[in-house]
Amino acid sequence: MDNGKKLIVFYSLGGNTRFIAEEIKKEENADLLELKLKKDIKSKGFLKYLIGGRQAITDKKPELLPYDVNLDDYETIFIGSPIWASHFSPAVNTFLSENAILNKNIALFCCHAGGGEGKAFKHYKERLKGNRFIGEIEIKDPLKAKTESVNKLKNWLKNI
Ligand SMILES: Cc1cc2nc3c(=O)[nH]c(=O)nc-3n(C[C@H](O)[C@H](O)[C@H](O)COP(=O)(O)O)c2cc1C
Repeated sequence: MDNGKKLIVFYSLGGNTRFIAEEIKKEENADLLELKLKKDIKSKGFLKYLIGGRQAITDKKPELLPYDVNLDDYETIFIGSPIWASHFSPAVNTFLSENAILNKNIALFCCHAGGGEGKAFKHYKERLKGNRFIGEIEIKDPLKAKTESVNKLKNWLKNI
């Protein structure tokens, strides 16, 4: 794949999406931007599903810690998120609201626990009109099957 200078933007609560983001970085020589929330939900316990899931469904845009990126520098942006209640995560929602993204090559990746990408890819496409979608991939909890996940990822990268 040669789609100009590349950025990977992602959020990860439990490390799965971070793992994939870092693998993409290795393969594509891209810059990495990890979105962090000012106040993240707790990563342990069952309550996180209720709290995080509700945030995702109700279109919440929680405050991010400051980040420094100039999107004008990039032609291609990978956007990665865990799936929360069939949506992309609130942190990514905040990022998309804070940045006008236009005329980019967009590649989407998400991690889930077996439910697939849900509505996330559809919602990204609605939110990111005016861009070119060059690929999308969903990966089931990659930290539980690293080799298989990395192989799937590499195949995908070859084809975009
Ligand atoms: C709040 C919350 C909601 C979730 N909702 C879903 C879901 O709808 N479908 C699914 O397959 N997995 C769901 N999961 C599981 C995560 O998407 C999955 O474990 C993912 O790999 C986590 O990525 P991370 O480690 O980068 O945070 C949910 C997890 C959380 C914390």
